[in-house]
Amino acid sequence: MWLENFIRKSIMDVEPYKPGKSIGELKRELGLSHVVRLCSNENPWPLPESVVKAIQDASREVNRYPDAEAYSLRKAIAKKLGVSVQEVIVGAGTEGVTFALFQALLEEDDEVVILKPTYPLYKLATLACGSKCIEVPVDHDFRVSVTSLMDACTDNTKLLVLCDPNNPTGLFLPRHDLLTLSAFLNRRNILLVVDEAYAEFVTDPEYLSGIELFHQIGNVVILRTFSKIYGLAGLRVGYGIVPKPITKAYEKVRRVFDVNSIAQAAAIAALKEDDYIQDIREKTLLEKEKVTRALINMGMEVRDTFTNFILVKVDDEQGMYDGLLKEGIIVRPASDLGLNGFLRVSIGLPEENEQLISTLRKLMRRLGRRI
Ligand SMILES: Cc1ncc(COP(=O)(O)O)c(C=O)c1O
Repeated sequence: MWLENFIRKSIMDVEPYKPGKSIGELKRELGLSHVVRLCSNENPWPLPESVVKAIQDASREVNRYPDAEAYSLRKAIAKKLGVSVQEVIVGAGTEGVTFALFQALLEEDDEVVILKPTYPLYKLATLACGSKCIEVPVDHDFRVSVTSLMDACTDNTKLLVLCDPNNPTGLFLPRHDLLTLSAFLNRRNILLVVDEAYAEFVTDPEYLSGIELFHQIGNVVILRTFSKIYGLAGLRVGYGIVPKPITKAYEKVRRVFDVNSIAQAAAIAALKEDDYIQDIREKTLLEKEKVTRALINMGMEVRDTFTNFILVKVDDEQGMYDGLLKEGIIVRPASDLGLNGFLRVSIGLPEENEQLISTLRKLMRRLGRRI
């Protein structure tokens, strides 16, 4: 069809991002009244009252445009992370930040190095700019070889995107490796972009947040989100900590009112809730341990992670996914994120996790497995 000539060549063969199924969609499809959603690594617990109140108050003023600069939110983020307001950019989720950031940085000849598997949006954002994506596979144990990452860099490499901890493998790059990698990239004038969507769940002292690197070396960008531990996935707020010249470039291409006024108010209130965040982290890690232990006791192979999801090894990924769907439980086939043979299961509320465990037990029995 001649109309196809209008489409950008770099996205011709791209598969669109496949989000997890929504609760409403599954209810409609199967006529269910109760559905458990464990597919998008959201925070399932109720929001703090202060955040609910901020949302209600802000909703009374939606006749006005939001603050285009999102100044108060950027200031609150800057204060929290010990950077200046000019080093904070915001957008409609990490997703919004990533697309605008890449647009501000990438030329058509540039290459972007990423892990394989990893969160699919880096590749989509790269191809949307007409640039080239180089994927470096993790090993059988999901470990990342820093040497392979360095070997993948050429004179055309502009960005190396590290999802840390990585989605879907759930592991982080150990401190020493990250330091080696960042020093190499610094020498080669390649920008290190670290997506830390799950950083707030990590308690291991081996973990080095890019924020520490940001203070030490210049060529680091950190991406973070309010969609995970902060519980604001539906409001779409993400941010980046970036060197000041990048903020200036970002300002030129970002969507002016990308973060709406309710989202700005909610994120500001959420940033003050340190006790709530700690509580969510503790509850999530406790529940994760509980689910992991129960599934291992049933004879399943579970890959633990440093995030709020686990990976469950299955012989028949699609069959098990469909089986859970029929019982009203939405998980994520990890192949949606480039990892075959696993289900990625988010940690839910205690009763949701119980339902997952008992349903998996039922499905395993049905398959004739001894439990
Ligand atoms: C690694 C990673 N980055 C970013 C996101 C999405 O963040 P946001 O909702 O802020 O676009 C996700 C969501 O699953 C993720 O896993």
